[in-house]
Amino acid sequence: MNNLNLFEIPFKIEELREKIRRHNYLYYVKDMPEISDAEYDRLFKELKELEASYPQYITSDSPTQRVGSPVSEKFEQIRHRFRLYSLDNSNNDKELLEWYDRVKKHFPDEKDIELVCELKIDGLAIALTYKDGFLQVGATRGDGLSGENITNNLKTINSIPLKLFPVDGQLPELVEARGEVFMPKTSFEKLNKKRRTSGEQEFANPRNAGSGSVRQLDPKITAERDLSIFVYGGVVIGFDEQKRKTHWDILALFKEMGFKVNENSRLCKNIKEVIDFCNYWEQKRFELGYATDGVVVKVNDTAKQEELGYTARSPRWATAYKFQPEEALTTLLDIEINVGRTGVVTPVAILEPVQLAGTTVSRASLHNADEIERLDVRIGDKVYVKKAAEIIPKVIGVDKSQRSEELQPYEYPKYCPFCGTLIEKREGEVNHYCPNEISCPAQLKGKIEYWVSREAMDIDGVGKSLISRFVDSGMVKDPSDLYALTQQDIKMLERMADKSAFNIYQAIQASKTRPLNRLINAMGIRYVGKETADILSRNFESLDELKQASFERLNAIDGIGDKIAHGIAEYFSNPEALKMIEKLKTYGVEPEKSAIMTGEGYLADKTFVLTGTLSSMDRNK
Ligand code: IVH
Repeated sequence: MNNLNLFEIPFKIEELREKIRRHNYLYYVKDMPEISDAEYDRLFKELKELEASYPQYITSDSPTQRVGSPVSEKFEQIRHRFRLYSLDNSNNDKELLEWYDRVKKHFPDEKDIELVCELKIDGLAIALTYKDGFLQVGATRGDGLSGENITNNLKTINSIPLKLFPVDGQLPELVEARGEVFMPKTSFEKLNKKRRTSGEQEFANPRNAGSGSVRQLDPKITAERDLSIFVYGGVVIGFDEQKRKTHWDILALFKEMGFKVNENSRLCKNIKEVIDFCNYWEQKRFELGYATDGVVVKVNDTAKQEELGYTARSPRWATAYKFQPEEALTTLLDIEINVGRTGVVTPVAILEPVQLAGTTVSRASLHNADEIERLDVRIGDKVYVKKAAEIIPKVIGVDKSQRSEELQPYEYPKYCPFCGTLIEKREGEVNHYCPNEISCPAQLKGKIEYWVSREAMDIDGVGKSLISRFVDSGMVKDPSDLYALTQQDIKMLERMADKSAFNIYQAIQASKTRPLNRLINAMGIRYVGKETADILSRNFESLDELKQASFERLNAIDGIGDKIAHGIAEYFSNPEALKMIEKLKTYGVEPEKSAIMTGEGYLADKTFVLTGTLSSMDRNK
């Protein structure tokens, strides 16, 4: 930098800016960086230093000028140059087809109309105006005619270009890009976690967090929030008409100019493809990193769009297919306390049944005592339930404005509701435990459910309710007792037909010869799941050999660390467990040599995939 002459400086500055713009684009828009963060920081620092020495060359489109605008008193209202229309909704396939029929009526000679499907991003609608390629103004949609001038805040969002890339060596005279500013789900979680720790009010969802962040009077706060944008179209003036004959062309043009355009959009030949797209994303949306509440379907041909025109509020050439809401508001009827096979206490919300993303929800997870306290959820409250990527819906918030005064804070139980033992909290863990491993009926039921499960001893026909009856009647006090049951014993249970008793008896007996890896998994040793059980079965011939293994021998096995080795040692030093192992032997539970062979021979290290059914054994075998 020192050996530049004065004449060269503005060129050097512009060269650095171009480089930074390109890498900024690769990182924030394309998500495909070509240089390291350190290298980027180095370029940025160099530019900053040059600009500090030669402030006469600072321009508002410089990458250094994204942050640092002053705090505003309030946002100025500005009139939009082009009106931002709203969209009419289609709430289901039928309404979507009706919309398509209305479109088709305008074009009686055409068999199918080409359509573009885009995810409807659930954020804050904005418009960005660029003159000769430079960002001039960024505003909220407002009522569609005028909105708030939030340029300084929008400039802090790295995926919004301050200067456009030329297309075919040209920059359009005027570009108005429309898009949706949003906060990615992971950033939303992080922000809320931070706010929780500092005692600030959490945001209810990513949309509120996003629009709250972008409408900050101090742009520094906006800059600290991780926001992004998807641009879904707009107006281009003073540019080759051939490049924008269809909406699909326009999306490509905006991409070329450097805007972030959603990659999941699709050009569809007919309405059938549109319906498939909507149904696909209705299910898959939970896996996306951002919130979407539907699909926007647009007629592709811009000439056709013009012919269709607008109603007072919205274009006839587009419709918003709405997904079933992800969240619903319902009443919390009760909190049920469950105790699992390892003694973990989990509270479950019992809800007034409510429709949520296509299913009826009447139970939802409340995780643990901390979560109940954090939400300050009370029985009788109106609560928000949400379906996330996980299958089990969860309670995510309380509508406190609807809370009646008499509702009392929830008191977490002190004693296990199944065995009356004092519940305890272990150092460093969020969960509460029922410590009564030996005789808590809830833990026993959980252990037996695990024992009979597919992954473990795979006993067909022994389900939750039968296990409950076995335990409640006192017939089964640990999993080994299953093998002592006679057909007669099973038949004695209420509502049990002869044939069913026979089948259950047979299924239990048949499991006696399950391979060692399954038996080890079934025992429910702490930290030993299916994979570790497989490893152990490859290293030990029998349960007895495993029982006698020293901590050192266990620890020496690849895949068995300290924690697991301790778990195993602890298990085999428990007299109750030893008693059960003896009983298993007496009842003839003798595993076959593990199905997983030692690492030698012809088939070693090969993976086989079997399809179809086998006549003499099941597929797992
Ligand atoms: S097109 C004239 N496309 O949905 C067409 N809108 O009521 C107008 N939105 O708040 C909008 N994703 O910001 C369009 N891919 C998308 C969209 C989208 C989200 C928002 C838009 C506005 C609302 C429309």
